[in-house]
Amino acid sequence: MNTKRRRSEKIRKQVFLACVLPLVVGSAAEPPKLSPASIKQVLAAMSLEEKAALVVGDGMWFQLPTDEKGEPIKIPADSPFKMPVVGETHKLVLGSAGTTYEVPRLGITSSVLADGPAGLRISSTRPKDPKTYYCTAFPVATLLASTWDTELVGRVGQAMGNEVLEYGADILLGPGMNIHRNPLCGRNFEYYSEDPLVAGRTAAAMLGGIQSQGVGTSIKHFAGNNAETNRNSLNVNVSERALREIYLEGFRIAVQSAKPWTVMSSYNKLNGTYSSESHDLLTKVLRDDWGFKGYVMTDWGGGTDIVAQMKAGNDLIMPGTPQQREAILKAVKEGQLDVRVLDQNVERFLNTLAQGPRAKGYKYSNQPDLKAHGEVTRQAATEGMVLLKNAGAALPLSKEIKRIAAFGNTSYKIITGGTGSGDVNKAYSVPLVDGLQNVGWTVNEDLKALYGNYTKLVKGGRTKSQFWFLGEPPIAELEINKDLAEGMAASSDVAIITLGRNSGEGSDRTNVEGDFKLSAAEQRMIQQVSAAYHAKQKKVIVVLNVGGTLETASWRDLPDAILLAWQGGQETGNSIADVLSGKVNPSGKLATTFVIKYEDVPSAKTFPGKELPSDKPRPEGLARLMFPQPAEDTYTDGIYVGYRYYDTFNVPTAYEFGYGLSYTTFEYSPLKLASPRFSGQETVTVEIKNTGSVPGKEVVQLYLSAPAAKLDKPAKELKGFAKTRLLAPGESQTLSFTLDARSLASFDPVSSTWIAEAGTYAVQIAASSKDIRQHGSFTLGRELVVKKESVALVPKTPITELKAPARP
Ligand code: BGC
Repeated sequence: MNTKRRRSEKIRKQVFLACVLPLVVGSAAEPPKLSPASIKQVLAAMSLEEKAALVVGDGMWFQLPTDEKGEPIKIPADSPFKMPVVGETHKLVLGSAGTTYEVPRLGITSSVLADGPAGLRISSTRPKDPKTYYCTAFPVATLLASTWDTELVGRVGQAMGNEVLEYGADILLGPGMNIHRNPLCGRNFEYYSEDPLVAGRTAAAMLGGIQSQGVGTSIKHFAGNNAETNRNSLNVNVSERALREIYLEGFRIAVQSAKPWTVMSSYNKLNGTYSSESHDLLTKVLRDDWGFKGYVMTDWGGGTDIVAQMKAGNDLIMPGTPQQREAILKAVKEGQLDVRVLDQNVERFLNTLAQGPRAKGYKYSNQPDLKAHGEVTRQAATEGMVLLKNAGAALPLSKEIKRIAAFGNTSYKIITGGTGSGDVNKAYSVPLVDGLQNVGWTVNEDLKALYGNYTKLVKGGRTKSQFWFLGEPPIAELEINKDLAEGMAASSDVAIITLGRNSGEGSDRTNVEGDFKLSAAEQRMIQQVSAAYHAKQKKVIVVLNVGGTLETASWRDLPDAILLAWQGGQETGNSIADVLSGKVNPSGKLATTFVIKYEDVPSAKTFPGKELPSDKPRPEGLARLMFPQPAEDTYTDGIYVGYRYYDTFNVPTAYEFGYGLSYTTFEYSPLKLASPRFSGQETVTVEIKNTGSVPGKEVVQLYLSAPAAKLDKPAKELKGFAKTRLLAPGESQTLSFTLDARSLASFDPVSSTWIAEAGTYAVQIAASSKDIRQHGSFTLGRELVVKKESVALVPKTPITELKAPARP
């Protein structure tokens, strides 16, 4: 090399060392700072201790439940309920569910993770701070799914996401999207539907709305968390087909169409392995098959083996313990955990963190527009209420009605949402009676006073609830005797009876009086009030203020109308009044079946699983939350969940999937198919006309019956849905539905592929799963292999599942 060339080489090196290298790896004096472009450099600059700390989240502040003597319950070392957690979240957003570790020298900020599906859950007040931090309580998931309106759900998501952003949080721990397998699951109110298409599309809309605000989400609980009893230890044995078609499908739709920033693994085991420790679930299915790019976090305290969790692809442990950090260090040093695996966990976490508002230095206001969000929740709630019965056009209430007698505790103390982490600290809630008065009706004051005194009396005799988590126990209904009912019938124009139900995480509901079944006092109330009002030719309206379904068949003939109001968030009273008055024409339809009796549910015999022999103490009551017993549930119902079962096995229902009345009527034109033969895609169009006398919206459903030569198939499955805009009387709208090859396919566990069988596919355009308005069909010339999936989540022993009866 000549001198000139040597000199220019030297200059190039100096320039590289002085200018380029620090940009790439950071100089010794100045380490790299986290940004979306610097993840690899930041990772390279981290010590092993920092990595171990990063994948173990900081904890939440948590008041332990107390025993009968008021002493905090002691948690044994082997309880899955891990305490103490690392740190507390006091220093950031008070009342959030957890935070993550910070490494200031590398620009790695904490991130704030906060519940939950019905709105942001944080503390509304802070010590020595006169300001308030209220959040909007939006309608619960069962209601949102009943809107069948993904655009509207997206708007709710935007409002919710804006509160996440403006209160300084990064990730909202929701939406919840487990399948309604059984009506007694205590968390059904947080989940959307018994059908994965409804669950997946509704969740995708919610994700799109929340994430449009620049904050993240965590779809949960992945997967198979369909019961709360022994939730930390329950082993769910389920076939690969039922998993792929029912329990995973909604998550797949949400992941692929809306890219959630994170996924929360569930507490339970799937086919013998904790979800959070399942490489099959979190790597093969979620990442390899579906292409998920974000990070996975545990549910709070989920799983037992942190090394297995890291290897499975569960990147963040929430809320972690100091011992878990130590366990990671030890495993890497002793060779049980390859540092490259840990690096991958950290890298995924950092990729997401870098997108978040805290890492970007967003200056949040602590002042979201709560008034505007109150309007969003008021409207959204009306759109998901379902009119179950309306004999003699009892609703909307006629203009002659001025005086209302409101029966039922819940008329005065409305239930805005469920309990546990899905609860929201809201500024106010509108009781039904206030909503009625806001519309201009007069509410009977004597009856109001009677309920007020009764409630005060019952509450006065109670000791304080031991654990915020479980919510207040319900107050038994007041006995309504004949005289009282007749007195009210004489002095008011209509009776409204509200029935309330509440539940939440940590426990399931029961099939006993006062829960799934009506209590004797509730039955008598409906009987007495109906008899007294009907004797005077006056109407009785029942409002169901519930998070999930309940038994209706034994009493539904008595009242004139039944409005399923669900739990509509903080404006519930106003929203119900909007529907009762006719300001809003109800357009919700059921995304979950109302059965005639609990025993009709295919999982009724085994839900919530059986406890296995154990030498551990078996405490009762509250303490059971901390000491779950080993338990398992084998899903012998297979793919026959909800209407897939009732339709295929001809089991009558009280109100079927997809059902809901309107104040108007709709006509469906004959459907049109783009082609009589399927070649890659099929389009179905139908015109919907409002044939009644008031404006309204109609939810239209597309069901498909697939040929069942090779695989067992349900009688029909929902493959598309749409809601019309508000149609004026006489107005029409054409709706179109696109079916792709996936819509035709079922999962064949033998080959781990989605297969569309050759043959004739019957298309049904319907107003509900039982109200089929138009038929059509197309053919598929030869079998299509739609997608090959990983072999994953194979049950340890084959499961004997329900099989459809032979088709006629
Ligand atoms: C619940 C999750 C929730 C988490 C944090 C857990 O007990 O199952 O849904 O997000 O707590 O509060």
